[in-house]
Amino acid sequence: MTMPPDSSRPVTVPRLRELRDTGHKLTMLTCYDAGFARTLDAAGIDLMLIGDSLGMVVQGAASTLGVTVTDIAYHTRCAAAATQRALIVADLPFQADATPERALDAACTLLRAGAGMVKLEGAAGHKLDAIRYLSERDIPVCAHLGLTPQSVLRLGGFKVQGRGDAAAAQLRDDAQAVAAAGAELLVLEAVPSPLAAAITAASPIPTIGIGAGPDCDGQVLVLHDMLGLDSGHRRPRFVQDFLAQGGSIAGAIRAYIEAVQAGRFPAAEHGYAA
Ligand code: KIV
Repeated sequence: MTMPPDSSRPVTVPRLRELRDTGHKLTMLTCYDAGFARTLDAAGIDLMLIGDSLGMVVQGAASTLGVTVTDIAYHTRCAAAATQRALIVADLPFQADATPERALDAACTLLRAGAGMVKLEGAAGHKLDAIRYLSERDIPVCAHLGLTPQSVLRLGGFKVQGRGDAAAAQLRDDAQAVAAAGAELLVLEAVPSPLAAAITAASPIPTIGIGAGPDCDGQVLVLHDMLGLDSGHRRPRFVQDFLAQGGSIAGAIRAYIEAVQAGRFPAAEHGYAA
């Protein structure tokens, strides 16, 4: 199995760029509780995301909009209790980043619960203000561009983003802007593979793709999706069921890590054309 150099060393924020610079593909999965956190950590996952996707896969809602800071803090505390090595990234849920002050308040709650970084969606002016405000106050931020599920009402559904010259140029500019505002990591969701490759090549910070092709610096999937659980929602094309090949939950997680690190996942059929 391919493991990162010195795989027992805790994954810190500066280490993300070091790992990217050695050509190591960063591996990330969502996680919401201690049992899975222990299994993911033992398998050598680099990053765990306490995603607001928990609104859909744990709470059974149709979107992520109902998730609160209290929800994310609860699941962060559960996962952090069983994590030694992976860096825990916790989502700022819907409107928790509406002002820099609200974002700081929410981020402090999530850091106290055990997160090492917070993630926020979008690059509108107030989002850049929030990223800057947090990073100037020593709170590491992961940005999230492309399909941002908290914008589902405005977008009219969970749709591929960045198609067409104008949308692609906007996404490239946004990726530069979030890094300039101080983000340390960038999730790209449901973006045409060539665009994600171009953004990654120009990005000073590591990129993590989900439905963004093979050329990002790392990959993330929702845990329930990669274990083949029926979430009650249409399964996106970028999902692969690793339980079938892994044979057990721990085996599935190891198979995912190996496939990402070896460049076998995602394959061409998991990506979107421009
Ligand atoms: O909430 C989440 O799980 C996410 C991933 C889909 C990137 O944001």
